[in-house]
Amino acid sequence: MTAPQIYKGLDGVYADHTAISEVNAKEAVLTYRGYRIDELAAQRTFMETAYLIWHGELPTAKQLAEFDAFERENRTLSFALTSLLRSMPSSAHPMDRLRTAISFMGTEDLGANDHSPEGLLERAYLMFAKLPTMVATIYRHDKRLPLIEPNPRLDYIDNFFHLTLGRKPDAVTRRAFDVSMILYAEHSFNASTFAARVVISTLSDIYSAVTAAIGALRGPLHGGANEAVMGTLQDAIDAGGVGKYLRGVFARKEKVIGFGHRVYKNGDSRVPTMTDWFHQVARAAGREDLITLHTELADAIAKQKNLFPNLDYPAGPTYALMGFPESIFTPMFVMSRITGWTAHIIEQLADNRIIRPLSAYNGAPLRKLKK
Ligand code: COA
Repeated sequence: MTAPQIYKGLDGVYADHTAISEVNAKEAVLTYRGYRIDELAAQRTFMETAYLIWHGELPTAKQLAEFDAFERENRTLSFALTSLLRSMPSSAHPMDRLRTAISFMGTEDLGANDHSPEGLLERAYLMFAKLPTMVATIYRHDKRLPLIEPNPRLDYIDNFFHLTLGRKPDAVTRRAFDVSMILYAEHSFNASTFAARVVISTLSDIYSAVTAAIGALRGPLHGGANEAVMGTLQDAIDAGGVGKYLRGVFARKEKVIGFGHRVYKNGDSRVPTMTDWFHQVARAAGREDLITLHTELADAIAKQKNLFPNLDYPAGPTYALMGFPESIFTPMFVMSRITGWTAHIIEQLADNRIIRPLSAYNGAPLRKLKK
C-alpha cells in the first residue's frame, strides 16, 4: 500500500466551497461577497459590511436602519453574565473570559439548538450586539473602573468608545476603527473559522461553535498576534535598532509576530489600507517616530527574508494609539470576526456534512497484551 500524502497543517487543501469571501493570494486581493475590501473600506461602514457578510448583499437604507435598531436595543448583558464577567480573575486573559461569556450566553438561551437560518442569524446578531459590552466590562473590571451602561443614542462605534474609554472618538480615530473592523471581519477558512465549521458540522449549537472559534483565535499564530506587535516594536527599540534586533531574532530562529501568512506569500491584501489608517492616526497623535520604526522594520524583514506584514502589524499599533490596552486587541478582533464566523456556521449548516479527515497511523505496530 502506498503511503498517504499528508498535508501538514492542511496546507493547500480545499476543504469545501464558500460564497462568503475569496482570498486571491497571487494578486493579494480579498473580496467579501464579490466586493473588494479596499473598496468597502473606502466607501462603506462596518455595519454595512457585517450585513453584507451575513446576507450576501449590501443593505438597503431600510434594512440597515432595522439592523442598526436591533444592535442598539440588544447591547445589554444579563445580570448573571455581567456578574460572571466581574467574578473572573483579572489574571485570566480577556480572550479566556470572552470565550466563557459566549459559552455562558448559550446556557441562557433556551433555543440554543435552533438550526433554522433565521434562528442562527438572530443569535449571530445578538452576539454581535453584546460582544462590545462584554469586552468593555472586562476592560473596566481590570482597570477597577465603574461600568458604563450602553447608550442607545450612540452608534456601534461611538458606543464602544463610550463603554470602554468613556469618550467619543475624533473623526480620524472613528474611521480608522471602522476600517479595522471591516478588514478583520472575514477571511475564508482561517483556523478559527474552520474550528467553528468543524464544531457546527456535528450539529452542535452556534454558541459552542463560536466558543471554539474564540479559543482558536486566541493563539499568537492567529489573532493573538495583534497584541504582540507593540512588544515587537519595543523590542526593536530596546535592542538598539532594527538591524541589531533582527540579527538577534534570526540567530535565535524566532518568528517576528505580525509577519508571514499561510496563504499570502506576496503580501496581505488588508495591509495597505490598514497601514494608511495607522499612519493617519499616528500623525494625528504626533507619533511620526512610530511610523518610521514600523516602516523600517517591515522594509528590513522584506529585504532579508522576503516576508511581509499581515493585518495585525498595522492594526496593533493603531489600537494602541487609540488608547486601548494590548490585552483587549484580540477581543476587539472577535467583535468583528463574529460576523464571518457566524456566516460560515450558517453556510456550513445549509449543506452540511460532518468534517472528519483521516490520519495516517505512525505509532507502535500491532502487539498483543500480555496475559
Ligand atoms: N518571522 C520569521 N520567520 C518567519 C515568520 C515570521 N513571522 N513567518 C514565517 N517565517 C519563516 C518560517 O520560519 C519558515 O522558514 P523556514 O522555511 O526556513 O523554516 C518559513 O517562513 C515558512 O513559515 P511557516 O511557519 O512554515 O509558515 P506557516 O504557513 O506554517 O505559518 C504563520 C504562517 C502566520 C503562522 C507564520 O508566518 C507565523 O508564525 N507568523 C507570526 C505570527 C503572526 O503574525 N500571526 C498572524 C497571522 S495573520
